[in-house]
Amino acid sequence: MLIETKGLKKVFKSRGKEVEAVRGVDLSVKEGEIFGLLGPNGAGKTTTMRMLSTLIEPSEGHASVCGHDLASDQAGVRRDIGYVGQEGGTWGEVTAREELIMQGRLYGMSKKTAARRAATVLEAFQLTEFADRNIKTYSGGQKRRLDISLGIMHEPKLLFLDEPTTGLDPQSRAHMWDEVRALRERGTAVFLTTHYLDEADALCDRLAIIDHGEIVAEGTPTALKKEVAGDVVAIGVNERHDEARAMLDAKDFVREVEAGEPDPATGTAVMRLYVDDGSTALPELLRALDGAGIAAASIELHRPSLDDVFLKQTGRSLREEES
Ligand SMILES: Nc1ncnc2c1ncn2[C@@H]1O[C@H](COP(=O)(O)OP(=O)(O)O)[C@@H](O)[C@H]1O
Ligand SMILES: [Mg+2]
Repeated sequence: MLIETKGLKKVFKSRGKEVEAVRGVDLSVKEGEIFGLLGPNGAGKTTTMRMLSTLIEPSEGHASVCGHDLASDQAGVRRDIGYVGQEGGTWGEVTAREELIMQGRLYGMSKKTAARRAATVLEAFQLTEFADRNIKTYSGGQKRRLDISLGIMHEPKLLFLDEPTTGLDPQSRAHMWDEVRALRERGTAVFLTTHYLDEADALCDRLAIIDHGEIVAEGTPTALKKEVAGDVVAIGVNERHDEARAMLDAKDFVREVEAGEPDPATGTAVMRLYVDDGSTALPELLRALDGAGIAAASIELHRPSLDDVFLKQTGRSLREEES
């Protein structure tokens, strides 16, 4: 395991009041994976990440990061990780190349090694073209790529990325996903936070959902969605509605059927069938209808989303929290 935490807790004291930002988090992150911490604003994502990267001290609990104990070997942790904060840090009157070389020197590289490594990193993040231009002239996406370049300058085993795509346009976002995947291909594990459902779903090998400082679910996106309700197959039929419904409901892999009213214009009634695995249920359902001589007018397979997972665990929709 690359990260293992047990009962990690952070209590902030501000103006005499105590804020329990993180309330006992148990997490494990494996070598070489993209791990996501998904949750709404204020859930405790940044606080968790800052503890794991030694920027703030936990109030309680234990963690090991890249094989180093978080409490007793902070220097060891720092050597093996990179950290890119939510705000990013590169705004000064310098060029990307200068900033990268400086970062390399901070990690003890010789001038020559730092320059060589900077050139490699600039190339990997498609920044070579702008490398000697003042950072002030960069677009949001270019700046974010530079932030990440700085985070991996010393070739960490693990990179922490706090909301890497917040504030980026859709195209820069897609690029960023590619960059993160490329890091994984090169053997760097990534621990990222996000409040975007689609990002957690598309990008992360595994994720934990955090709400009010507590982990409410952890697993692969697929497994988490499977836990919720299986899949939903929506079948529309134009005739013998009740018969079709009874027949499909009798199948042992159909957990539940919700029958809709026939559409007055088309006569099509849509049934929603809850099944464990839509991809195997679908052909069987069609075969059953076919055997009875009932034609399906429409058929659709819905898979539950991570929002359904969040909804089930917290009673709220993350999508609604957004707006
Ligand atoms: N330095 C701090 N002092 C007091 N409260 C804080 C501090 N940092 C964060 N918090 C509070 O802790 C909670 C979690 O914050 P944070 O970890 O930043 O959430 P997220 O990154 O998920 O949006 C919030 O209620 C926030 O206001
Ligand atoms: Mg945050």
